[in-house]
Amino acid sequence: MKTNLSLSPAAQLETECLVAVVLDRSENARGEKDKTEAYVSAADKAVPQAAADVIASGDVAAKTFETTWLHKPAGLKAKRLLLIGGGKAGKFAASDLRKLAGAAVRALKPRSLRSLAFVVPDVIPADQAVRAIVEGAFVGDFDPDIYKSDRKDQRIDALTVVASGDQATLQRGLDQARIIAESQNFTRELVNEPSNHMTPNMLAQRAQAMAKETGLKCEIYGADKIKELKMGAFWGVAQGSDEPPALIVMRYEPAGAPEKPVLGLVGKGVTFDTGGISIKPADGMEKMKYDMAGGATMIGTMRAIALLKPKVKVIGIVCATENMPSGKAQKPGDIQTAMSGKTIEIINTDAEGRLVLADGLCYARQIGCTHLIDAATLTGAVVVALGYYNAGVFSNDDDFYENFTKALTKSGEKMWRLPVTEEYLDQTRSTIADLMNTGGRWGGASTAAAFLKEFAEDTPWIHLDIAGTAWMEDAKPWIAKGPSGIAVRSLIEFAREFGE
Ligand code: BES
Ligand code: MN
Ligand code: ZN
Repeated sequence: MKTNLSLSPAAQLETECLVAVVLDRSENARGEKDKTEAYVSAADKAVPQAAADVIASGDVAAKTFETTWLHKPAGLKAKRLLLIGGGKAGKFAASDLRKLAGAAVRALKPRSLRSLAFVVPDVIPADQAVRAIVEGAFVGDFDPDIYKSDRKDQRIDALTVVASGDQATLQRGLDQARIIAESQNFTRELVNEPSNHMTPNMLAQRAQAMAKETGLKCEIYGADKIKELKMGAFWGVAQGSDEPPALIVMRYEPAGAPEKPVLGLVGKGVTFDTGGISIKPADGMEKMKYDMAGGATMIGTMRAIALLKPKVKVIGIVCATENMPSGKAQKPGDIQTAMSGKTIEIINTDAEGRLVLADGLCYARQIGCTHLIDAATLTGAVVVALGYYNAGVFSNDDDFYENFTKALTKSGEKMWRLPVTEEYLDQTRSTIADLMNTGGRWGGASTAAAFLKEFAEDTPWIHLDIAGTAWMEDAKPWIAKGPSGIAVRSLIEFAREFGE
């Protein structure tokens, strides 16, 4: 999708489809809802003028995602005007605008319209609005149907954002938003692939190709190196598969960046999780192709970092493997020695994510990371706790966490902090070894996090459990069913701030 900025009045734009936001500004003195009072939120008054009749008719309620199509709108050069509802003006935020842009794109796609011009609404600062529109439009443009033999590629060719303000600032915002959005979609492409098209080494190849394009250093290590590093927890998972594992290390070390801090981004890259010997039920197992979403998140994030060039060192590490049952697979009761030296009693081979991450986190510390963030589709328990709407966040450092929440505000991604206190670790103590890889029935997201915390040790660390959020179970107006790309935008925003 080509992206352009236009500072000319919206009415002058020749486009297949001009999109403008309709908001409801009705509010009585106490801020309570009165009768709906829809209005078109645009700087160029020719746009509300073109919609004056339909607004006056009362047919437009400004409900969120409500669409109203006008053809040959009077006074506009556009062929169509698409009005898209955004709800209450007083509550309308950049995160809502992002979704509206996605919804507008998704409304256009099946109509064979290939370009649009989105008018910045006047209630959001222009620089924020431009970013939100670009990010949302790219998210909406993604469809997962790449293996359909009769696929109609309905991608949008061109997006124009119509705004007013300082051209250089807005253009910079647009360019950066585009990098962020394309990186999020890159992650979604990787997550979308089934496991026969995305083995650990295929994932590594994709990371390497990206690194080459963007100028990152990328090292890929196989089984030999994993054993040499004594990554017994990672190898314990990998040993059961005929597909060789891959340890992917992407380095962003810009000239002029200080020695420290070094941000380490560690991703769970389980390209298929059968559960291993503790095999999962057949029902729904196909979904476990997305168990590499945490790894793909870090690969997409590293792409954006390489292009946005913050002045800080960032290292991305992905532990990629399948989790398979076989004659070589680890078995419940086995003891593995992790890279850190800690011993782990395997209670359930399906709790494999924490095993690969234990060694990933340890390795990140060994190669000099001073701060750690991991992302993983780690537990079903986080889905029980938070559903599909919030990713779980865990941290051993309140200041580090507070900084991360600033990135969440910018990205518009929803995450919720859950506890990772000592008690949860107690649930994972083993009688025969240091730790068990499960912590019993209750508090499963926190016991998994407590396990990881043992390998982050005293390094400031954040863990993102994205099991419930990495995959959209249903299509929404702004996003297709399938991989969501959750956490990519937040991690990019965080890394940029980390470099300031
Ligand atoms: N990959 C799964 C977690 C998962 C569940 C991801 C649902 C996406 C959607 C993970 O490896 C797993 O199997 N976790 C087990 C841990 C249990 C055996 C302690 C789980 O949550 O059931
Ligand atoms: Mn599992
Ligand atoms: Zn898993």
